Amino acid sequence: MGTMAEAGGGVVVVSPKPSKGFTSKAVDWLEKVIVKLMYDSSQPHHWLFGNFAPVQEETPPCKDLPVIGHLPECLNGEFVRVGPNPKFAPVAGYHWFDGDGMIHGLRIKDGKATYLSRYIKTSRLEQEEFFGGAKFMKIGDLKGMFGLLMVTVQMLRTKLKVLDLSYGQGTGNTALIYHHGKLLALSEGDKPYAIKVLEDGDLQTLGLMDYDKRLSHAFTAHPKVDPVSGEMFTFGYSQAPPFVTYRVISKDGVMNDPVPITVPESIMMHDFAVTENYAIFMDLPLYFRPKEMVKGKKLIFTFDATKKARFGILPRYAKNELQIKWFELPNCFIFHNANAWEQGDEVVLITCRLQNPDLDMVGGGVKEKLDNFTNELKSSVTVIDAKTMSPDPVAVVPIPHRVPYGFHAFFVTEEQIKEQANF
Ligand SMILES: [Fe+2]
Repeated sequence: MGTMAEAGGGVVVVSPKPSKGFTSKAVDWLEKVIVKLMYDSSQPHHWLFGNFAPVQEETPPCKDLPVIGHLPECLNGEFVRVGPNPKFAPVAGYHWFDGDGMIHGLRIKDGKATYLSRYIKTSRLEQEEFFGGAKFMKIGDLKGMFGLLMVTVQMLRTKLKVLDLSYGQGTGNTALIYHHGKLLALSEGDKPYAIKVLEDGDLQTLGLMDYDKRLSHAFTAHPKVDPVSGEMFTFGYSQAPPFVTYRVISKDGVMNDPVPITVPESIMMHDFAVTENYAIFMDLPLYFRPKEMVKGKKLIFTFDATKKARFGILPRYAKNELQIKWFELPNCFIFHNANAWEQGDEVVLITCRLQNPDLDMVGGGVKEKLDNFTNELKSSVTVIDAKTMSPDPVAVVPIPHRVPYGFHAFFVTEEQIKEQANF
C-alpha cells in the first residue's frame, strides 16, 4: 500500500463495547438517587419545546417533492443541515448543545428534490441505543454541586466499563464540511464523523476520522477549507494543556504536526479564521471553571467580564507559536466570524461580538414558557438568488416533515458527490 492510499484512510469504524449487568444497574440506581435528591425537576426543558423538540424518527429518502417556482439546472447537489435531535429523554438537565446529531438533507438534481433525515451514528448514540436510554453526561447537567455529582456518575460508568469512551462521546451535531472526499459532521468536543452522501441523497456514517492516528484531540466544528489549495485548517480546544492545538491538513488528507497555542486558561473557542497567510485565534474570556460551577451554581463555562479578550495572529504554516502576535480588544465573546482577509499590512476580520454571553440563553430568550405547538409547525427549504439577494425566492420546497431548529448547514456539490467514489 502506498502513502497516498494510507492518506486516504484515517476512518476508524466505531464499535464501542458497553456492558449491561449488575454494575450498570447499580450506577443507574445511584444516578436516580442523585437526580431525585438534587435536581429540580420542575424546571422546564426549554430546549425540548416547540420547534426545539426532536423528531421521533429518521426519514428515508422521500422523492419528487412538490416545488414552488423552479430549481435551477445549475443547482445540483445536496443541501445538508445538522442539529441536535436527542433520541432519548434526558434523566435530568438538557442543553441545546447536548442532542444527538441529525442531518436533514435536500438532494437536488435536474430540478427535482428529495428529502431525508439521518442520525449521525456516533459511539454515544450506539451505546444509548444499546441501553435504550440516556447514559452520557450532558452540558445541561453541569450546574452546581449536582454537576459535580453527574461528572462522577459518568466517571464511574467509564471506570466500571459500563460505557466505552474509546470512540469519544461527541454528537456530531454542530456543523458540516466537505474535505478530501468526505462530508464531515462535527462537534467541537470530539473528532469528526465521516459521512458518505449516496446518489439518492441518503447519508451513511462511515466512522470517526483520526487522520491515521495523528489526531488525538478534539476538533473544532468550524475548520476552514482553502478553495485554492484544497488544504483544511483546524484546531481543537481542551480542558487540559495545551488548551488549544492548531493543525493543517493537506488536500490529500494528511494531517501536519500539532502546533500548541498558549492561552492562560481553558476556554471555549468555537470558531477561528484563516486568510491567505494567517490563522486568527480568539482568546475570549468564556472559561471552563468547574470550581465556579460548584460554588456559583453556574454552567461549567462561565463568562468573566473582568478579563481581556484578544486575537492571536499566526503565519498559517508556522511550526510553533513563536511568531504569534496577540492584539487586545474590549472584553466580549464571539461565537462566529463572518470572514477574514488581508488588505496591505492589515488583517481584516468581520465578526459578531457578544457583550454578555450566557450559554443558558443560547437560541434566543427561551426562558419563558413555550407551548408545545409542534404539530402546527411546517418546514421548507427556500432558494434565494445570491446575485441579487432578492426576497422573492427562486424556489420553495415544502418539507413533508418538521425540521427542528438546528445549527449549521452546508451544500455538497454534485462534483463532490461524484468525487467521493475516488477516495
Ligand atoms: Fe457554530
